[in-house]
Amino acid sequence: MHRKCRWYCLLTNNKANYFLMTVFIGAIIILIIVLVSYSTTLVSRISSSIRLQQDLAPVKNQFRWVKSGLISIAFLLISLIAFTIWQYWQKASLQENTLKENILHAYDSTKVWNAPDLSFMLQSPDKELLVYGRQLIANTADFLGPAGIIRPMSNGMNCQNCHLDAGTKAWGNNYSGVAANYPKLRARSGTVENITKRINDCFQRSLNGDTLKPDSKEMKAMAAYIQWLGQAVPKNQAPKGVGLKKLAVMTRAADPVKGHELFISKCQSCHGVDGQGLPKPEDPSTKYPPLWGDHSYNEAAGLYRVSTFAGYIKTNMPFGATADNPQLSDEEAWDLAAFVNGQPRPKHKFLATDWPQINKKPYDHPFGPYEDTFTEAQHKYGPYQPIIDFQKQTK
Ligand code: HEC
Ligand code: HEC
Repeated sequence: MHRKCRWYCLLTNNKANYFLMTVFIGAIIILIIVLVSYSTTLVSRISSSIRLQQDLAPVKNQFRWVKSGLISIAFLLISLIAFTIWQYWQKASLQENTLKENILHAYDSTKVWNAPDLSFMLQSPDKELLVYGRQLIANTADFLGPAGIIRPMSNGMNCQNCHLDAGTKAWGNNYSGVAANYPKLRARSGTVENITKRINDCFQRSLNGDTLKPDSKEMKAMAAYIQWLGQAVPKNQAPKGVGLKKLAVMTRAADPVKGHELFISKCQSCHGVDGQGLPKPEDPSTKYPPLWGDHSYNEAAGLYRVSTFAGYIKTNMPFGATADNPQLSDEEAWDLAAFVNGQPRPKHKFLATDWPQINKKPYDHPFGPYEDTFTEAQHKYGPYQPIIDFQKQTK
């Protein structure tokens, strides 16, 4: 993609300036060659004059030329250095603008979202912060897990366990819509949430942990990276492939018994017989994440809703599945979701404050009180259609 770069293209990126620099350098080289050959003939003339005991005055006169040659080289060199420094100042702002343009240009709202090219991130002036943010998303546990080097404050899962490929995979719970849609009013909290608050939501629920201070380096890095990913998306737009797929509801209730059978045949090889995850053979220091139990997401997490879980696994599990190449039928996804979310896990900590307006609860929110008279079990497992119909009528 990139043409071969001479050393000085690190300092400039426009053709006219390449040309100027080449002329400067060319002129210096030619002058040096001329000067060196002139000086050697001069030196041999002097030595022969000395040998023949001739008058040195006319030869000495010729040193004038050497002197002016040296002055010209010095002048050219100083100009080259000044030009280079000037270019260097210009380059920073120029580069930032072209970077931004390239990223904006690559966004196409009619196509499935693609994350901006990572090479652009590595050229960004905020490179260090963005790279750190990406690391925190991909390897959260190393920094903030139970044995994390920054602060032990979460359950050992990584953001990337659910936000696949560091939040860049289409229908893999990616972050493409975050920069364009936050701050936004969220019915779950009944408040306007900014990105920081939204990240802390996942820490408290999906990672069953504590919150990060908004001005901590870690929070700033994650927020910066997430915003960088979605920077090309116009305000309030939802790109194609954002977040998760929504599956059509079944007419029957989701069936945990069928889900259990599917779990054994399709999931336990990686997530373990007991759902607690397994060390990865290729790198035993990391794990296939747990699906339930003390180290899993808690009952307040998004995945604890059966529809969210089903949407997530439909396009992403078994690991390697994609929206174009799913491995589960919709029914299988619903039944698996019912089985996994029927297993024990850490309790809901925000029942008193979540969904302040109960008529805003999603149809599969498994905790009452409700506006309707359907049981918590029906809200959790379905059949959902009667609930959805009721919610439509009362709107
Ligand atoms: C157990 C799975 C899981 C983990 C781990 C997880 N999340 Fe999430 N996250 C979700 C789900 C599911 C949603 C979407 C919720 C919904 O649509 O109801 C979400 C939504 C988000 C959103 C909002 C996306 C949007 O478009 O509105 C952000 C930002 C976010 N998560 C950040 C993080 C960060 C940062 C971490 C790590 C500290 C993390 N999440 C860890 C499951 C998870
Ligand atoms: C080949 C191994 C493999 C198989 C089989 C597999 N998964 Fe996963 N699963 C993973 C990996 C790896 C991740 C974490 C992805 C990452 O960190 O990049 C994951 C993450 C998850 C997550 C989100 C994180 C969490 O632990 O809550 C869920 C939910 C999940 N898998 C469910 C399933 C279900 C249901 C099945 C069976 C249909 C399944 N997986 C089959 C490897 C697998």
